[in-house]
Amino acid sequence: MTDKKKLISRRSLFSTGAGLGALALTTKSLLAKEANKKNLPPNVPEWTEALGEGVDANPYGMPSEFESHVVRRNVEWLTASTESSVNFTPLQDLEGIVTPNGLCFERHHGGTTIINPTDYRLMINGLVDREMIFTLDDLKRFPQVNKFYFLECAANGGMEWRGAQLNGCQYTFGMVHNVQYTGVKLSDLLQETGLKNSAKWILAEGSDSSGMTRSIPIEKIKDDCIVAWAMNGEALRPEQGYPVRLVVPGWEGNMWVKWLRRLEFGDKPYMTREETSKYTDLLSDGNARMFTWVMDAKSVITSPCPEKPIIHRGFQQISGLAWSGRGKIKRVDVSLDGGKNWKTAQLHPPVLDKSLTRFTIPFEWGGEELLLQSRAIDESNYVQPTIQELQKIRGVNSIYHNNSIATWLITKSGKVDNVRLG
Ligand code: MTE
Ligand code: CO
Repeated sequence: MTDKKKLISRRSLFSTGAGLGALALTTKSLLAKEANKKNLPPNVPEWTEALGEGVDANPYGMPSEFESHVVRRNVEWLTASTESSVNFTPLQDLEGIVTPNGLCFERHHGGTTIINPTDYRLMINGLVDREMIFTLDDLKRFPQVNKFYFLECAANGGMEWRGAQLNGCQYTFGMVHNVQYTGVKLSDLLQETGLKNSAKWILAEGSDSSGMTRSIPIEKIKDDCIVAWAMNGEALRPEQGYPVRLVVPGWEGNMWVKWLRRLEFGDKPYMTREETSKYTDLLSDGNARMFTWVMDAKSVITSPCPEKPIIHRGFQQISGLAWSGRGKIKRVDVSLDGGKNWKTAQLHPPVLDKSLTRFTIPFEWGGEELLLQSRAIDESNYVQPTIQELQKIRGVNSIYHNNSIATWLITKSGKVDNVRLG
């Protein structure tokens, strides 16, 4: 291809009509081997000659049978038992910023609890003026909020502290999801119960068998916590805490108590198992960081990635996700050479507070090896660190809060590997 032609085909991609033409040609040449010629132009495809399924075929719609590879997956050696387990969101197969409900990763310590909403109650007790018990219908009488937030498990990427281990975007980054929650602001519920001046902390308790309990400071409770009953427009899924879960925007997923049963107000943290023996970070000097609630800025390139190799040379898009527990994403940089040179990616609206943000950047691949990285910067000007910068402060004993820059090695064949630099 001459330089002039290159320029033309690249520019044509930006204008929809001509762009589609250029893309269609590439797609045809790649897929022609696999397709059933009978169905290709100029023939009339077989699906045009028969009636389709009736409208009653799927009272609750499911994805196309050709998308059956887009599923949550687990890692065998991380699965103690299916009841105390985790699976991962297939980020590499998703577009935009919304995680479909059936693909949100699950993390349970005692299995998915099934609750009949008629039997559901939320109790608020402790240092309040009036201890109260709410039914689900009671909660729904309050003013509602509808907010997109990411939820990330503090252990996301926890296997990668000492080196690259799992060769997949899904396994190294998939303990995150992003949905629109509907619920009532916890501060609105507190107008009913009143609050004693001595109330400084809350104990959030789940009703599953795991005894999930976390302490949350009163400032966060008053700021933006939500008692939520819906995600992406429908009732919460059982896996996500049906009928009610706590939403703690920007803070580690463990605090987002599912199957929420009780909120107790106290004057000090409750020092539960989940905030003492777990969800603390052991440093090199033997001390442990505690109450590390905020999820720092992070990003991942979802295409290409180990599950999404590069399949053609020439013009194409790098696409990825960035998020921060401190607010909005301000900028994402992408490097093709392992962090020596950076270019700023395009952020796709909506760019929301404490939500996944989609970024893309076009590039042209000539078949050379690349070291692909992305780096998120949030509105507090926090810059996503390298693993070396993070290890300098935190050592290598942590499981939680690994928000370092990952590297995808693009090999000459287009295959992509998760690697560690330096
Ligand atoms: N709440 C209860 N009641 N039981 C649990 O096991 N797991 C926590 C948190 N809330 C858990 C819970 C952890 S560790 C995480 S990361 C998130 O829920 C996971 O939420 P998800 O399953 O909706 O992805
Ligand atoms: Co978790």
